[in-house]
Amino acid sequence: MNRDGHVETLRWNGREIEMIDQRLLPARKEYVACNSARSVADAIRAMVVRGAPAIGVAAAYGIALEAVRLSEEIPSRFTEKMNDGFTVLAASRPTAVNLFWALDRMKKRWSENSGRPLADLASILLQEAHDIRAEDIRINRKMGQYGATLLKDGDRVLTHCNAGALATAGHGTALGIFRSAVESGKRISVYADETRPFLQGARLTAWEMVQENIPVTLITDNMSGYLMSRGEIDAVVVGTDRVAANGDVANKIGTYMVAVLAKRHNIPFYVACPLSTIDLSLATGNGIPIEERPAEEVKGFRNCHWAPEGVAIRNPAFDVTPAELVTALITEKGIVDNKTLTDGDLVGFVKKHR
Ligand code: MRU
Repeated sequence: MNRDGHVETLRWNGREIEMIDQRLLPARKEYVACNSARSVADAIRAMVVRGAPAIGVAAAYGIALEAVRLSEEIPSRFTEKMNDGFTVLAASRPTAVNLFWALDRMKKRWSENSGRPLADLASILLQEAHDIRAEDIRINRKMGQYGATLLKDGDRVLTHCNAGALATAGHGTALGIFRSAVESGKRISVYADETRPFLQGARLTAWEMVQENIPVTLITDNMSGYLMSRGEIDAVVVGTDRVAANGDVANKIGTYMVAVLAKRHNIPFYVACPLSTIDLSLATGNGIPIEERPAEEVKGFRNCHWAPEGVAIRNPAFDVTPAELVTALITEKGIVDNKTLTDGDLVGFVKKHR
């Protein structure tokens, strides 16, 4: 836990980056220590650390640790091994653009300082990773302030997956908005979708909210339509892994279903989205790579399997919600409403603020 009593998703122990093992939560709080690009990539792939901004921060540390580890090599070997580090991290998960954003930022820092002694370069890259981590928390707090203005006292807010402190360096994006709303004195209550198949909602979102006494009710993914039809949900707030230039939003599988239901019931559908999650290189959401995860995750959970052997299984981990269903993106630089998105003005907004 950090000074505020919140969970520390990633912490620096002076030599290594430690990540809370999100596969074990909420039953056990154990940290996994990583000291190289490969060990960080393995942790990302295995879902020790997950959530778009947290993956980006972890990748930055992976590069910095690789530089520290290689700083006594001859320069040609350093360059070769560092490039391998970038490659292995870039291959760890495909959908969250924050991973690639963080790698680009580290690469830029490297090239700006490429003439320096390797030990100095390693220190500079380590400082860059620390900065990315600290900035992420500041960005989430800013998003929280903007997002909290959209919620009313007494609102019952649905979220899908975990866009909390655990998905970031701290505070969270969607859950950061709930935290900020509560800090500003609003009484809100959260509905957490269980989020099949990896159960980020049941295990992580529910846990984070319970830790902080923010009222939370867990539902299975197929219950939200019923609750909406009964007038029991006032708003939806989710996070995102990548937003295309036209405002299409990739997020955890099932988000699209929630957005369609929200539209049907006239419920605002908000997306908490740091600018680092917007990918202007993709014109629409059709270009967003969607990760397919192992069939094992759909067959059951941990050691309990309920599907018959031999059954065909699909496991796309994300889906894309078209911009027309998004009421607003909540960024650290302000709120981007649906008209701005559908008029194609997201590009201008991002260019102005990045
Ligand atoms: O597969 P995951 O757990 O990494 O998916 C995470 C999500 O879909 C989150 O909603 C998204 O990364 C935003 S986190 C602030």
